[in-house]
Amino acid sequence: MSQVKTSITAYSVASCIGKLASTPEWGKYIPEEMAELSASFSKGATDTPVKRLISLLPPKLAEFALDNILVPGMMHHFLFRKLLIEAELHRFMAETGGAGQVIILGAGLDTLAVRMAGKYPAARFFEVDLPGAGEVKLVALKRMGRQLPGNCRFLAADLAKTPLTGVLNAEKSFNSGTATLVILEGVLMYLRESDVKGLFTTLHALFSGQLEIIFGAMAHPDDVKNWRVRAANFLTEAQEKTDWHASSRDMPGFMASLGYSLKSWMPYKKLQAFYRPATELRNVPEEDENYYLVTKTPQSVVNFDIGQIPLLPINL
Ligand SMILES: C[S@@+](CC[C@H](N)C(=O)[O-])C[C@H]1O[C@@H](n2cnc3c(N)ncnc32)[C@H](O)[C@@H]1O
Repeated sequence: MSQVKTSITAYSVASCIGKLASTPEWGKYIPEEMAELSASFSKGATDTPVKRLISLLPPKLAEFALDNILVPGMMHHFLFRKLLIEAELHRFMAETGGAGQVIILGAGLDTLAVRMAGKYPAARFFEVDLPGAGEVKLVALKRMGRQLPGNCRFLAADLAKTPLTGVLNAEKSFNSGTATLVILEGVLMYLRESDVKGLFTTLHALFSGQLEIIFGAMAHPDDVKNWRVRAANFLTEAQEKTDWHASSRDMPGFMASLGYSLKSWMPYKKLQAFYRPATELRNVPEEDENYYLVTKTPQSVVNFDIGQIPLLPINL
C-alpha cells in the first residue's frame, strides 16, 4: 500500500455523498451503489485528524461547516454536480452506441467509472489522479469482494507535471481515435492557469475523433484575507489551495482561444435551484464552481455571449 496521502478534498466529497445518502431528503437521489462505494472508498482514505473530524460530523453539522468554511451550498453541490455529470455520461453513451471512451481526470474517490463500466461493457473508462487514490479504491473494492471491471483502469499522474499523452498512450486499451468524454469534476481550480491551458491543449492534440469535455471552473478567486479561506487551507494542510478561476463571462472566449466551442453550461446557483427551495438559497452565490461542456468541434461562428449559451439539462 502506498504511503502517499489521499487527497483530503477527495475524501470530503466522498464522505459528504455518504452523509447525504443517509438522509431521506437526499438519499433518494443517490443510487445505492454510489452510496456503498463512496462509503467504502472514503473509509480507506489516509487516516488524518482532519479526516477523523469530518467523518464524525453528522450531515447537518457537515452542511453547516461547509456552508461557513467553503461556500454556502457546497455540500449539496458535491451531489448535484455528480448527478449532472452522470446524466451527461448517459447522453454521451446513447450518442456513441455505448462504445465511447471516458477519461476522468482528478477522479479522487469518485465512483462513476466503477459503476458505469459494468453498465457499458463496450465502453472504456480511465481514471487519472495523483498516486494514492487508485490504490485506495482497489483495496476498498477487494474488501467489498468486488473486482475492478476489465474495461476500467486507474492511472497515476500529476496533471501539472506528467504529460497525459504518454500516460494514456501507454494503455493498450486506450484509443485516441475513439469518441471521448473527459470529465474534470472539482479539479481545475487546483491547477495554475498555465497548467489548465496546457491540459486543454494536450487533450486537443491527443484526440483525433469526437472530443467532449465537461468541467467545473471556479468563477471567483479565493479571498485569502477571508477567515473561511484560511480555515479551508488549514484543513487541507494548504496542499489543496485553489489557484485557477475564470468568470463565466470570459469562458466562451477562453475556450475558443484553446480551440473549443462552449456547448452548454450550468451556473452554481441555478443547479441548486433545481433541487432546493428558494428559501434555502438566500446565501448561495449565483456563481461559484460553474459547470461547462465544450467540444473540440470548431464552430463557424463562436458565440462569445455566455447569456446565449444553453443550460446543461437536468434530469430530476
Ligand atoms: C476535490 S477532489 C475531487 C475528486 C473527484 N473528482 C470528485 O469530485 O469526487 C480534487 C481531486 O483532484 C486531484 N488533483 C488535484 N491536483 C491534481 C494534479 N495536479 N494531478 C492529478 N490530480 C490532481 C486530487 O488528488 C483530488 O482527488
